Amino acid sequence: MHLHLRDGDMCRLTTPLSAEYFSGAVIMPNLVPPVTEFDSMDAYRTRILEAAGAHAESFTPLMTLFFKNQTRATLEAARARESFFALKLYPAGATTNSDGGVTDFGEAEATFRAMEDLGIPLLVHGESHGFVMDREAEFLPTYRRLAQTFPRLKICMEHITTAAALSLLDEFENVFATVTLQHLLITLDDVAGGMLRPHLFCKPIAKRPEDRSALLAAALSGHPKLMFGSDSAPHPRHKKECCGCAAGVFTAPVALPALADLFAKNNALDKLQDFVGGNARRIYGLKTAPKKVVLEDKPCPVPAVYEGYGEHVVPMFAGENLAWSVVA
Ligand code: DOR
Ligand code: ZN
Repeated sequence: MHLHLRDGDMCRLTTPLSAEYFSGAVIMPNLVPPVTEFDSMDAYRTRILEAAGAHAESFTPLMTLFFKNQTRATLEAARARESFFALKLYPAGATTNSDGGVTDFGEAEATFRAMEDLGIPLLVHGESHGFVMDREAEFLPTYRRLAQTFPRLKICMEHITTAAALSLLDEFENVFATVTLQHLLITLDDVAGGMLRPHLFCKPIAKRPEDRSALLAAALSGHPKLMFGSDSAPHPRHKKECCGCAAGVFTAPVALPALADLFAKNNALDKLQDFVGGNARRIYGLKTAPKKVVLEDKPCPVPAVYEGYGEHVVPMFAGENLAWSVVA
């Protein structure tokens, strides 16, 4: 429910590695320049489907536009497009390629109202500009205000990282959330507690053990408002292994086996299907291409790097063995 495929050669390399395993994905619009117009959205969708190759038939890209205080007329036109799924809101400067994001939530109100009336989901990157460990916590009042002011607007907190954010799901009927693989597995100590591990650096950054435990418990218990949003966010190796590391963890090709392992170890395999798809289908009334993925508890080596089209991307678990594999 949250996937970065980038553009150009990086899109050619990472789209098949993602489309192979997922029947659909919400495609993030934070390209350079961001996807703000229908025409660029549809052209991007076409490039994605071309890059997906043989997987295109069983992969539905659910397209988003970058939130830009769109007018009601624009949103009405958007809703008429089958490819359009939602608006993605970034606070200006909060993460990768988000400089053109929202600076004033007051000015965005007319757009929120129109989205509410038209049934268009609002996907939010919920981080403030404060202290890195508190950026999500500082954003929670904004979520609360939005949820109260626009009670019919479906608000999705895109990849929550804290127990405090999780509690908003029970507080507000119209608030939902995605969570990533890495935030179910790691804490800040894994990123920066020993040697710095750039391939685990993402935004919002992984938090405390108690946050991870709360998120994991919610996922394993089958929380009906929590969806898997991989936030698989590939960056070229030279932009991760350098001075000034880009934020993002590339997880698309390893996510399903790693989740199967995690859910199996916790005797919760029966909850996996809803977490990776069923909840999203129900919450948004989604219909994506039919696809069957078979997972088996059979070891699967993860490449040290994926390369192609002149690009190199290092996945999570690079060079390790996963305990589970996608076998069909
Ligand atoms: O770590 C991240 N990477 N978080 C985001 O919100 C954006 C993403 C990216 O685009 O690389
Ligand atoms: Zn993202």
